[in-house]
Amino acid sequence: MTTKIAVFASGSGSNFQAIQEAIDRGELDAQIEIVLTDKPNAPIVKRAEKFNIPVFSFIAKHYESKEAYETEIVNILEEHEVEWVILAGYMRLIGSKLLASYANRIVNIHPSLLPSFPGKDAIGQALAHGVKITGVTVHFVDEGMDTGPILSQAAVEVVEGDREATEARIHAAEHKLYTTTLKKLFADEINLIH
Ligand code: GAR
Repeated sequence: MTTKIAVFASGSGSNFQAIQEAIDRGELDAQIEIVLTDKPNAPIVKRAEKFNIPVFSFIAKHYESKEAYETEIVNILEEHEVEWVILAGYMRLIGSKLLASYANRIVNIHPSLLPSFPGKDAIGQALAHGVKITGVTVHFVDEGMDTGPILSQAAVEVVEGDREATEARIHAAEHKLYTTTLKKLFADEINLIH
């Protein structure tokens, strides 16, 4: 059965597009019911519009608390009968309201081999550290910063001294790994490492 998902993003939205294109090619039996962003002017909004997918934009500081905006988000997700929340460059910690409503149903992609380089600018952190191999991780979301149980990983060789080329490799790896992982997850075919 087609899995109903929401994609949360704060930036460019290339992972959103890769997921939608996999759906369009028939590789992933899912439907993106809604895109949610905390950055109303981010490029993700235009990308979603091109695919005729509804967007909910919000500005966190217009709410009195995380609990307040997450309550509105949960209502929207429930209206759209969303089963899984897919974070794709959503740069905010998920709070207790969303975690409680979507327990073990929130997934994130992160541009490093976790637990190395959690948090912001993971690619910059890897380059600054001088690692030769970095990569990408898909994991369940818990209350921590990039700490939840790991679902899948792929290694990426750093292009020394070339951030742009390293980033391009990371994004290409993400676009493949996210859709193949989601496919297995929705088919209940993943054994957790933890
Ligand atoms: C991706 O590289 C994703 O792994 C990263 O943001 C980028 C979003 O790109 N996420 C994080 O760093 C989360 N901690 P996109 O907007 O082109 O999909």
